[in-house]
Amino acid sequence: MAKTKPDPAGPRHVAIIMDGNGRWAQARGRPRLFGHHAGARRVREIVEACPDLGVEYLTIFAFSTENWKRTQTEVAGLMTLFRRYIMKEMQAFVRENVRVRFIGDRPRLDAKLHGLMDEAEAMTAHCTGMNLTIALNYGGRDEVSRATQRLARDVAAGKLRPEDVDEETLPRYLDTCVVPDPDLVIRTSGEARISNFLLWQSAYAEYEFIDTLWPDFTREIFADVLKQYGARDRRFGAVSA
Ligand code: IPE
Ligand code: IPE
Ligand code: MG
Repeated sequence: MAKTKPDPAGPRHVAIIMDGNGRWAQARGRPRLFGHHAGARRVREIVEACPDLGVEYLTIFAFSTENWKRTQTEVAGLMTLFRRYIMKEMQAFVRENVRVRFIGDRPRLDAKLHGLMDEAEAMTAHCTGMNLTIALNYGGRDEVSRATQRLARDVAAGKLRPEDVDEETLPRYLDTCVVPDPDLVIRTSGEARISNFLLWQSAYAEYEFIDTLWPDFTREIFADVLKQYGARDRRFGAVSA
């Protein structure tokens, strides 16, 4: 199959708030978890599309630090889904040369899931293709708080001077320390909010809020959103040339 040449103007790092699984299921008269399963299946298609579209980094929001507020049934179902997902996809990621990383508060997750996450990272540590970051039990405020704790510990230990804390130093303590900032953040399902996602990192990201529910988000829609990004003028506070 002929590969389309990646558009050099395309985003290098795309982050997606995969929203709308519950409404998708509800519209079909099915339980919310049915929507989460359909949503998980979509991830494969989008990951596979990235290399052809020139996307080097993909970050997906799978579970937020606020999502614990949902019913026990939904939370437990999601945790089972995440475990199964990692077990099922791990080999495929290795085969496709996808480097997997997780961001979020890992110790709060159950030991089995936590272990699978560590394993997936270790198994793909040598992969040099696409970089997939999965935000699981992730919250931007929680991440900045945890980073600040670690930073404060280094200051207390004399490893860092308070006057050396700046915009370069702080992000080294974030979960995303080895990943570049997102160029484009996409949210599906029509909600125009960021829901605590990548607060520090998306300071200069472009945003696309689209009405499609996540389980209906196809490769074609993804390509279309990326095309629109190419028409944007990112000024970063300066004046365009
Ligand atoms: C996003 O879909 C997936 C998670 C937050 C885990 P939702 O479950 O939020 O779906 P809606 O917003 O209720 O439709
Ligand atoms: C954000 O979606 C979190 C994920 C997609 C994992 P939510 O559905 O939880 O966000 P709110 O509650 O509508 O802001
Ligand atoms: Mg939602």
